[in-house]
Amino acid sequence: MKGGSHLRCASCGDAYQLKEPVVHCRCGGLLDVAHDLSRWHGRGEGLKALFRSRLLSGKEADASGVWRFRELVLPGFPLKSMVTRGEGNTRHYSFRKTGEWMGQPNVVFKHEGENPTGSFKDRGMTVAVSRAKADGAKRVVCASTGNTAAAVASYASLAGLPSAILIPENATALGKISQSLAYGATTIKIRGDFDAALRLVMESREKLGLTVLNSVNPFRLEGQKTIMFEALERMGWNPPDWIVVPGGNLGNTSAFGKAFTEAKEIGLIDRLPRIAVIQAEGASPFFHSYSDGWKPYKMEAETVATAIRIGDPVNRDKAVRAVDATDGLVASVTDTEIMDAKAIVDSDGVGAEPASCTSAAGIRKLVAEGVIKRDERVLAILTGNLLKDPDATIKYHSESLPDIMSASPNRPVTIDPTARALEKVLSS
Ligand code: F0G
Repeated sequence: MKGGSHLRCASCGDAYQLKEPVVHCRCGGLLDVAHDLSRWHGRGEGLKALFRSRLLSGKEADASGVWRFRELVLPGFPLKSMVTRGEGNTRHYSFRKTGEWMGQPNVVFKHEGENPTGSFKDRGMTVAVSRAKADGAKRVVCASTGNTAAAVASYASLAGLPSAILIPENATALGKISQSLAYGATTIKIRGDFDAALRLVMESREKLGLTVLNSVNPFRLEGQKTIMFEALERMGWNPPDWIVVPGGNLGNTSAFGKAFTEAKEIGLIDRLPRIAVIQAEGASPFFHSYSDGWKPYKMEAETVATAIRIGDPVNRDKAVRAVDATDGLVASVTDTEIMDAKAIVDSDGVGAEPASCTSAAGIRKLVAEGVIKRDERVLAILTGNLLKDPDATIKYHSESLPDIMSASPNRPVTIDPTARALEKVLSS
């Protein structure tokens, strides 16, 4: 459509104004932020040059790896209302040991755990919180497995907005809870799982006057699109063959599909990479759905990768659209495969949290099955920082994770403070 951006239902196409406090369409469908891209048609090269020029501008908005792409995120948003921590600008790594372990040397890992609060959530949160503040939100809220909560808590405090976060009582990693407490969010532990927490948020939001910052908030996904814009720019706008991403609530999958479709529409890229979504076997409703002709599927979720312990992903329909549009696929890996992948990724010197490493485990599996070919170029996303879940790391290396036989444990040893004891350890 011509003119400015608006909200559009991903199911029935009904339109709403950007400022309307809606989360779902009247028909129950999810909303997209729809942009008028017609003014960029045929001007892809100019847009690339504009994005690049901002790397040297020294302005606050341009220092953000989200707002640097603002024409494709939230065009026209007043930059003085921006709530930013300079998110994005995350590095690309080629890991030697991980490459050998996966049987695929052409993998680049983009580390979204290098964002300010340690996960990709900051990319969406800078946009959603800026928008919420500008629209006069009274209180922001999210259900979370932990990372969204940390990002909400941080950005809300920066914005001067009160925040409340709802997390599963017994399945949220320590680093994430400590962030939410530290940033001053009202921290609510739910006797239930993430799916129950999100249902509660959605049921209560109108009555309690809450602005929801889960990925049902379409502004979140606009920010998360920049993971791909930044990656494509770094690759000279020459798309890889595959994008491999962990799947939980499926916000990233949906955002990536939208980013590629838009980038192709205005000529930033000439073809779409294939998206491979990797889920933990115990939390794999999207994998089951994919395997069964996209029949709806929900499950009781359980996995060591608590970030993606989700049985009823809210962005499912948008994610189906993304997988279909890119000729993508969905796979699942076991908890043992995830933790063994994590041990290898970590040992390459940067590391990531368990959920992030489903991407490495998934690549290994897809290479072994001959789906990803050895000469294909792969971009994998590491979604969260190693320090988020110290408990899982220590238990893996101490071989005390239930039901998991650690393939590469790095056991700590305790010695008396004597030279002999030290020599014995170092020579063994
Ligand atoms: N990786 C990490 C580290 C995450 O925290 C999440 C989601 C995902 C992957 C899955 O991403 O939902 O876009 O498919 N964490 C959410 C949270 C659910 O509450 O922090 P997705």
